[in-house]
Amino acid sequence: SAIINPEGKQKVARQIAGKVKDGDILGVGSGSTVYLALVAIAERIKTESLNIKAIPTSLEISLFCSKLGIPLTTLFEHTPDWLFDGADEVDPNNWLIKGRGGAMFKEKLLISSSPVNYIIVDDSKMVSRLGTNFPVPVEVFPQALLTVEKQLRKLGATDISLRPAKGKDGPIITENGNMILDCKFGRIEGSLERDIKSITGVIESGLFIDYPVDILMASNN
Ligand code: A5P
Repeated sequence: SAIINPEGKQKVARQIAGKVKDGDILGVGSGSTVYLALVAIAERIKTESLNIKAIPTSLEISLFCSKLGIPLTTLFEHTPDWLFDGADEVDPNNWLIKGRGGAMFKEKLLISSSPVNYIIVDDSKMVSRLGTNFPVPVEVFPQALLTVEKQLRKLGATDISLRPAKGKDGPIITENGNMILDCKFGRIEGSLERDIKSITGVIESGLFIDYPVDILMASNN
């Protein structure tokens, strides 16, 4: 995504790196600020010989970590002490929309297993109502697409589109082998995350309602 506020993001990236303690297991989300934070963390690992491990939320982030020399682990071996991630929208209740990168299932899995969660955003992500700039992404088991779409309409989705792949024909296939329906809803109520999740065939949605998150703002002022 466009780096709207490079100095602000850099500052928050350093702030995140400053929270790292020797022995930490870090959950690592996705996005441009997450990447900047990883670079700053890698620097500290090198200069201070810190022993930390990262649990990544996507192949892309796994690759970044290994290129930067940050050791990886999995949820089988460790649970995160804390995590950092980005978001696509944040409302005044700190409810989030995530999933522009299509990795919301793993992102939610990590956030559900981590006691402390820092969400890094800039002003462009703050909205008074969820759904202002982004649809709600829903990861769906492919054979369930048609039936899930019907159920999503019953829940109030007015506009549903199958997310297209980039650089090739056809839909995006997630790392879990599924597809993504981007859904516009008129008004997003607190119960919508649960309602979407209860549809058979839905793996996960990008709605993060009432998760314990600390929002870190990347702004110059
Ligand atoms: C990934 O699925 C999203 O939720 C990202 O966290 C989000 O797109 C943040 O990216 P930036 O930090 O690049 O804005």
